[in-house]
Amino acid sequence: MRAHWRTRTGFIIAAAGSAVGLGNIWRFPYMAGENGGAAFILIYLALIFTLGFSVLMAEQAMGRASQHSPVRAFRSLKGGFWPVFGMIGVLTAFVILPFYSVVGGWTLGYIWKSIEGVAREKGAFGAFISDGGLTILFHAIFMAMTIWIVHSGVRNGIEKWTRVLLTLLLVLLILLAIRVLLLPGAEKGIEFFFSPDFSKVTEDTIHAALSQAFFSLSLGMGVMITYGSYMSREKPLAGDAAWVVGLDSMVAILAGLVILPAVFAFGLDPKAGPSLTFITLPEVFAQMPGGKIFGVLFFLMLTVAALTSSISLLEVVTAHLEDEYQLSRVPTSIGAGLLMFLLGIPCALSFGAMADVTLFGMTFFDLMDYLSGKILLPLGAMGITFFVGWVAWSRVVQELNGEQGGIPGWASLWRLMCAVIAPLLILWIMFEGIAG
Ligand code: PHE
Repeated sequence: MRAHWRTRTGFIIAAAGSAVGLGNIWRFPYMAGENGGAAFILIYLALIFTLGFSVLMAEQAMGRASQHSPVRAFRSLKGGFWPVFGMIGVLTAFVILPFYSVVGGWTLGYIWKSIEGVAREKGAFGAFISDGGLTILFHAIFMAMTIWIVHSGVRNGIEKWTRVLLTLLLVLLILLAIRVLLLPGAEKGIEFFFSPDFSKVTEDTIHAALSQAFFSLSLGMGVMITYGSYMSREKPLAGDAAWVVGLDSMVAILAGLVILPAVFAFGLDPKAGPSLTFITLPEVFAQMPGGKIFGVLFFLMLTVAALTSSISLLEVVTAHLEDEYQLSRVPTSIGAGLLMFLLGIPCALSFGAMADVTLFGMTFFDLMDYLSGKILLPLGAMGITFFVGWVAWSRVVQELNGEQGGIPGWASLWRLMCAVIAPLLILWIMFEGIAG
């Protein structure tokens, strides 16, 4: 029999754990910093509560209706060539997890560097990520933790661990936010965060907000189909989806409120890009009273956030192999995890020994990031929404209310999102993404 979440909040916890990750704490604040602050945040929130919410429910409904992982879900709801979109999801896990685990390894390394007190030294980050031996070691530790949780199963691994880790994350985040907001000068950061300047909004801003929304909610590759397949039919779907979207955006905003005011309080540059977390923040912590302990806690929180997302990536592959080939969980999760570890090695070396090895002008790391974010996730999300809106609608719509029965009044609005608006918007991101 298929495994189900142990508790009524099982799906919310696991799905929020998947959604909340490096995308919220590392990527969101620098994207907001680079794209004009509040205006970006408002557009992002508008997108996540309309489009993100609709795609999330589409995946959840497919999973729960079919009680299968992505490929079989498409097959049992319709068949034909549709399972290809499930395969794209499985493939996407092999593209995201290798580089995600490398960054997860960096965050682990930075816990250690913060304890040693060397995280803020000039050039420390560059030196660290170009040290192949060290980054591969941390990547291996991060991957081993991921495999450990997934191999323990849906209830005793994913649900149990995510509950603990997500709670830890929220506590740490609130603690850090309070500390930072008490810093003199933090108001400037808060102002930047809350006063939108719409004159800075361009097509690029919207485009950036849209791809960030998919990545951040873990949409387009079947994570939510897989997690949805472990749901029983008692509850209506929309409430759980709203919780996940709400928690994901709350963490992004709180992370922004930790990082941007701190950056402003010390007169640093909010537009530092991807290095904002690893270079600018250690600088902030070094200048702040009690900074060492807060630095350690921050990187611990980042590692925890990354871990609850990486397990969802490995789970997609594990569940697929279990369902399709009746393989057992333990060897499958270990085997798939090892393969992803190997694929991560060239990603880890992309900043050192293999920095000059490029394909289409990108290092291995950049190529995996590009392929997943700009091509595979949007393609998967387009397939899923189109499928739900046009092909499997009559079956999937029955899922909304679950055992309660009936179809809610807003279902036609949801259909409009899935059938027309989402696929068109996604097509636009993809063309923009590939051209840009
Ligand atoms: N949502 C995760 C984050 O914000 C990343 C992720 C993407 C996880 C796709 C699973 C699938 O970091």
